[in-house]
Amino acid sequence: MATITEGYLDHKIFGIVSETAAELGVRAFVIGGYVRDCFLGRANDDIDIVVEGRGIELAEAVGAKVRSKVSVFRNFGTAMLRYQGIEVEFVGARKESYHRESRNPIVEDGSLEEDQLRRDFTINAMAFSLQKEDFGALVDPFGGIRDLAAGIIRTPCDPEVTFSDDPLRMLRAVRFAAKLSTPEHTFDIVPEAMAAMRRMAPRMEILSKERIAEELNKTLLCDTPSRGFRLMDEGGLLPYVLPELQALKGVETMDGKGHKENFSHTLQVLDNVAAVDGGKLWLRWAALLHDIGKPRSKRFVPGQGWTFHGHNVIGAKMVPGIFKSLKMTQGDEMKYVQKLVDLHLRPIALVDEEVTDSAVRRLLFDAGNDIDDLMTLCNADITSKNPVKVARIRANFELVKRKMAEVEQKDEIRNFKNPIDGAYVMDLFGIPPCQEIGILKEAVKNAILDGEIGNNFAEADALMRRKAAEIGLHPVK
Ligand code: CTP
Repeated sequence: MATITEGYLDHKIFGIVSETAAELGVRAFVIGGYVRDCFLGRANDDIDIVVEGRGIELAEAVGAKVRSKVSVFRNFGTAMLRYQGIEVEFVGARKESYHRESRNPIVEDGSLEEDQLRRDFTINAMAFSLQKEDFGALVDPFGGIRDLAAGIIRTPCDPEVTFSDDPLRMLRAVRFAAKLSTPEHTFDIVPEAMAAMRRMAPRMEILSKERIAEELNKTLLCDTPSRGFRLMDEGGLLPYVLPELQALKGVETMDGKGHKENFSHTLQVLDNVAAVDGGKLWLRWAALLHDIGKPRSKRFVPGQGWTFHGHNVIGAKMVPGIFKSLKMTQGDEMKYVQKLVDLHLRPIALVDEEVTDSAVRRLLFDAGNDIDDLMTLCNADITSKNPVKVARIRANFELVKRKMAEVEQKDEIRNFKNPIDGAYVMDLFGIPPCQEIGILKEAVKNAILDGEIGNNFAEADALMRRKAAEIGLHPVK
C-alpha cells in the first residue's frame, strides 16, 4: 500500500484520533470528501472518520482529549466535534441495508471495505489509514484514485443498488459531475450509472423536498451549473425535481417556423450569470426561472410567428408555487427571485425603445436595490447567435446603464422614499386616515418618476397642495 506523504494528514487532529483509536483498540480511517479533495487540491474543512468499532465512543474520547463538545446523534450512530476550525464527524463502519420506502438505514456493523462498498461513488469511498503502522496509507479497493484521474463518476457496487439505497445519490452524481469538472478535466457519469438513473428516477419520489432543494442549490452554485441540469435531464430526473423546467424543453414548428429552444437558452443564461456573479444563489435561481412562464404563454400568430406575451408576469406568478413545492422559503429570497423574473424584460425593452429619463426612473423605482442584479440577468439573457444583433443590443444596453447612472445621481430613485408622508398630509388638512392621502402621495410619486418635479420636499409639497385643492382639500393651518 502506498503511504501518502504530501501533508494531507498534517493537521494535529489526525495524530490525536490515531493515538486515541490505538488506546481504544479500534481502527480508524479518514474517508469520503476530505480524501477526494486532497487529491483534487481543493480545500475541505469537513473531515469524516470511519471506525471499525463504535464511532461514538472514539468521538467522545477524542473530544475529552481536545476539550471539545461532542454532539451525538444516536439514531444515526454518528458523533461530531469541532476542533481548530474544522468539523470532524465520526461513524462506525457499517454494512447498510435500507428500508425501501425511507432513507433511514437499518444499520449493521461492518468492516471498512463493507462500508466503502455501500458509499455513493468510488471517488468518495477512498480512505486514509490512521493506524500507527501505516499512517496515511490510501485504502482504495474500488479504484477511486483511478476514476478521479480519469474523471469518472462510478458507484462502488451495482448502480441500481447504490441508487436504490439512497435515491438522492442520483442528484449527487449529477452535482459532482458539475462541481468537479473544470475546463481541463471533465467528470462524466459512467453509462451504466446513467442507465440505472433512468430506470430508478421514479425512486426520487421518496426523497424529502428539503434534501432535493439542498442538492439543487449546490448544483446551482457550481461554476458551470448547466452541466448538472443537462445531466438531470439525461438521467430522467427533471420531472421529479423541477417539472416546470422540463416543460421548457423542445421546439414546436408551425408553418415552417420554430421557436427558441427554451431549456438550452435558460441553461445558457444560467451559465452566463454564474460566470460573473461571484456565487449569488438567488440570482442563479432567477436565471433558472426567468423564462419559466414561456410554455404557458406560448401562442402561434399566423403571419407573425411564435409569441410569449406576458411570460414574465406568468413566470413571476409561478415562482411562489415552485418554491413551495420544494419546501423553500416564501420570504425575501423568493420575492427577490419573483421580482427579477417579473422585470427581466424591462431593460431590454428600454433598449428597443427610446431611452427616456422617465422610463429609466420607473425601472430604477421598480427594481430598487436589485437593479444591478437585474442588469446582470438581462445582460446574460442576450444569447442570440447573430453577432450584429448582439453588438447592437449591447451598445444600447450600455446607453441604458449610463442613463441609469445619470438619473440616479440626479434623483436618487433607487431607494425612493416619498418626500411627502401621510402624517404630514393629515396634519396639514386636518383629515383622518383616508384614501385621499394615498391619492396625493401617488400623484407626487408619479410626478417625480415622470420628471415633472424634482425629488425634493419643496417641489413635492407644492404639487401636493395643488392636487389637494383640485379634490377640495385646503390647509387648516
Ligand atoms: N455519502 C454517501 N451517500 C450519500 C451521502 C454521503 O455514500 N447520500 C458518503 C460519501 O462517502 C461522502 C461522505 O458520505 O463522501 C460524506 O458526505 P457529504 O459530506 O455529504 O459529501 P462530501 O463527499 O464530503 O462532499 P461535499 O461536502 O462537497 O458535499
